[in-house]
Amino acid sequence: MKQKFLTTLLFACALTAASAQTPVYMDDAQPLEARVKDALSRMTLEEKVALCHAQSKFSSAGVPRLGIPELWMSDGPHGVRAEINWNDWGYANWTNDSITAFPALTCLAATWNPEMSAKYGKAIGEEARYREKDVLLGPGVNIYRTPMNGRNFEYMGEDPYLAGVMCVPYIRELQKNGVAACVKHYALNNQELWRGHIDVYLSDRALHEIYLPAFKAAVVEGGAWSIMGAYNQIRGQHACHNDFALNQILKGDWKFDGCVVTDWGGAHDTYEAAVNGLDIEMGSYTNGLTSESAFGYNDYYLADPYLKMLKEGKVPMSTIDDKASRILRLIFRTAMNTRKPFGSVATEAHYAAAREIGNEGIVLLKNAPAEKKGAPLLPVAADKYRNILVVGDNAVRLLNQGGGSSELKVKDMISPLEGLRAVYGNKVTYARGYVAGRPMYGRADEIPQHITDSLRAEAVEMAKKADLVIMVGGLNKNHYQDCEGGDRLDYGLPFGQNELIQELAGVNPNLVLVLLSGNAVEMPWVAQVPAIVQGWYLGSMGGKSLADVLSGEVNPSGKLPFSFPVRLTDCGAHAFGELSYPGDSIRQEYKEDILVGYRWHDTKKIPALFPFGHGLSYTTFTYGKPTASAKNIAADGTLTVTVAVKNAGRVAGKEVVQLYVGDDRCSVLRPMKELKHFAKIALEPGEEKSVTFTLTPDDLKFYDEASSGWKYEPGKFKAYIGASSTDIRGAVSFELK
Ligand code: GLC
Repeated sequence: MKQKFLTTLLFACALTAASAQTPVYMDDAQPLEARVKDALSRMTLEEKVALCHAQSKFSSAGVPRLGIPELWMSDGPHGVRAEINWNDWGYANWTNDSITAFPALTCLAATWNPEMSAKYGKAIGEEARYREKDVLLGPGVNIYRTPMNGRNFEYMGEDPYLAGVMCVPYIRELQKNGVAACVKHYALNNQELWRGHIDVYLSDRALHEIYLPAFKAAVVEGGAWSIMGAYNQIRGQHACHNDFALNQILKGDWKFDGCVVTDWGGAHDTYEAAVNGLDIEMGSYTNGLTSESAFGYNDYYLADPYLKMLKEGKVPMSTIDDKASRILRLIFRTAMNTRKPFGSVATEAHYAAAREIGNEGIVLLKNAPAEKKGAPLLPVAADKYRNILVVGDNAVRLLNQGGGSSELKVKDMISPLEGLRAVYGNKVTYARGYVAGRPMYGRADEIPQHITDSLRAEAVEMAKKADLVIMVGGLNKNHYQDCEGGDRLDYGLPFGQNELIQELAGVNPNLVLVLLSGNAVEMPWVAQVPAIVQGWYLGSMGGKSLADVLSGEVNPSGKLPFSFPVRLTDCGAHAFGELSYPGDSIRQEYKEDILVGYRWHDTKKIPALFPFGHGLSYTTFTYGKPTASAKNIAADGTLTVTVAVKNAGRVAGKEVVQLYVGDDRCSVLRPMKELKHFAKIALEPGEEKSVTFTLTPDDLKFYDEASSGWKYEPGKFKAYIGASSTDIRGAVSFELK
């Protein structure tokens, strides 16, 4: 009897002790899936549904009863956006949310340096962590299909391989801070005009070869914890609840275990949202402040209407358990991750990272002597000229403002003029030259012609007396420029810049033109301007990066992540009429198919003004003859291509060696060549390095629509080694048996 009593007593104590222990879902030491399962088992149906939709503009609910915290999200890809109000798009005007503005993602892509992507992800992750955000709404990896897209500055160019390689380190390093990347906008959000509904049609090849690979890399290699559904439709179904894109490809083929979050207002149907793979609905129209009956948060598609359908058995309970599991997984990875570092904001390390990324991303497009003789105009040594005139609204404009959701409230922002004055001192005078109006959302100032004319006349007059003119122009973050919510209306430079550039060149041959933009522009004056620099939106340290490169403190090493067509109709998206771009306002067809960017220019033999992969240096690089490790590549083997690259100039520099593959003959149309590998190498003057690339048969495949899979066809291939997509320094032939 006594024994039994003792046993019972011990068991009771053990139970008491156990129940006093931390519940599994609360215990960070427990396996993630065990925590998910335990938490799910404790939740009511109502609590699970509450996880699936916004509770405010930028947060979704946790489970208060179980001590499971809310999820806090924040824009954007280039830095942590200022705090937004609970229920509307207004800024909360906090005084502690100023941060570092990092260069735009086009600039990061232009570095062609994955180390810069890692630096970027680490720094922005520390800032998002410090600002106590669980999800950072970026990076954006939509392909640059047309130079008219208002949001290309947030993305990583026209080539899926470059965008994929350059987004992965950013995602990995960001998430090491316990902050989820939310890769966007999945998928086919390649323009802003009619973005909320345009119904995109395209071939399976174009989808799999061009528009999906960067997202796949972000998920499969980057391990992204969340992804944002795009506003547009894909083949008749909204991207935010698209069975094909979400259930079949993302969660099926790619085995994505994270959360699909709508773009803000991207959900349109409860049943589809329930069964087609959407997990968290954000931003559906509500001001939240009105009473519940006037479309409050509980009226969201994945709120009460979803709960009702579940209770009525109109959608399977498995859908809510899958959604809730994914959301819990995201919460455990972020908000309930007790191993997170503490983060930091606006540190010297972050400014150094922003400056370095800018320095490596700036692209030297052209650098000729001023009057067709003598040395190239750049770099400009600090003591070379006595009177340097800086011209342009973009020399002083704070380009962190505007552009839409990626806009930022910065702690510090070095303008180009400040950066140039820091190097050239009081030799620098300034003339506005042109003016652009306010960076508003959805509308743009009209600039009276007489103002444009007088500003131009003043600058041209001053240019006559200057030894050197540095014009800082380009686009900006105004509506109809590089800005969300609208596309550009004109391929040319706005605000009278073309006339200004032509007149400046007419009175002073020593003209350096810096374009700050996220898109290609038409350059009717290209022959009159000896030095042209593609400067991107460079963020907080922009002025320093620009001065570093123009002065020669830094040797530029950026390469274009997208082509600059001579004229708009030279771009594939604009070669097939309205239905191809911008669509007929309902439907759109990507008629250029797989021939996007340099794939179009190469294959159609329409030379771009400045091609994909182009970027000059202050030194010169010579390439040896590339060699292949074998004549044939076996189906299960590899083949290496080796090339020696030498710095034949007098200054140290970095070169991006690019490898493109071409299929000599195939049963389907293939681009003349496609980027498959690249390496950025640093070389001292006179130094030579050997670069080796390893090709596998996967590098030779195309997406075969007949078999809905990737395949290669035996035959002859070429590996082109280039300093750009057109500056081919050598090629090797090999055969796939
Ligand atoms: C915007 C953008 C998206 C952003 C979201 C929240 O409409 O499309 O990129 O993250 O809404 O601001």
